[in-house]
Amino acid sequence: MLEKPQILADTHFTYAAERFEQSPISLQLTALADKVFPSLALDKHQHWLDFGAGTGALSVPLAAHVKQVTALDTSAAMLAKLTAKNVENITTLEQDVFYGLSDTYAGVISSMALHHVADIPQLLSCMHQCLEDGGQLALIDLYSEDGSFHGDNQAKGVVHLGFDPQQLLEEAAKTGFKHLSCREIFNIEHKNGNSYPVFLLLGRA
Ligand SMILES: C[S@@+](CC[C@H](N)C(=O)[O-])C[C@H]1O[C@@H](n2cnc3c(N)ncnc32)[C@H](O)[C@@H]1O
Repeated sequence: MLEKPQILADTHFTYAAERFEQSPISLQLTALADKVFPSLALDKHQHWLDFGAGTGALSVPLAAHVKQVTALDTSAAMLAKLTAKNVENITTLEQDVFYGLSDTYAGVISSMALHHVADIPQLLSCMHQCLEDGGQLALIDLYSEDGSFHGDNQAKGVVHLGFDPQQLLEEAAKTGFKHLSCREIFNIEHKNGNSYPVFLLLGRA
């Protein structure tokens, strides 16, 4: 386990925020919402949490389908970019998920943030606790990779080199999530010449 991953991630995103959305990877990930949302049951009464929302790659399109989105992130710089978009039904929440959440949500979604969190069982538990009964879980991240996706993993606060979905599914089931499934939904073409598959894990509280 790397030392102080959260501090390193925060420092990284403070500097990365300015050009984050123009990166070739972020530009590809703008296609994600259209691939993920058909698998969700979205409606205009719901309040969703976007964990590690960043500049709002998912929060912004999600806000068009639901009543309210809370965009949670530890990085003030990333959230400032989202706030500047002035989306009326998005509330930003600058805090670590482990400090506790006071609301309950119809769904929790997260894209490319899990690999920054050391304690995945605890994160799944936080997510389960803040979901309504039957609430939806949608997690998007990289399949296990060799460390070449980020390159300088430690400096970027990366603590997991992607995930084995079977292990994640088992952890989610232990936490109490039901109706679990996981499939590949996307491939990121990296400037290093490699292609990195991305999974969508779905479940219900
Ligand atoms: C790679 S960015 C992804 C942003 C956005 N979801 C997207 O797909 O473009 C990861 C985000 O997770 C946030 N993050 C990492 N650890 C976190 C934690 N423990 N609590 C809240 N946010 C966290 C980072 O600050 C960063 O904005």
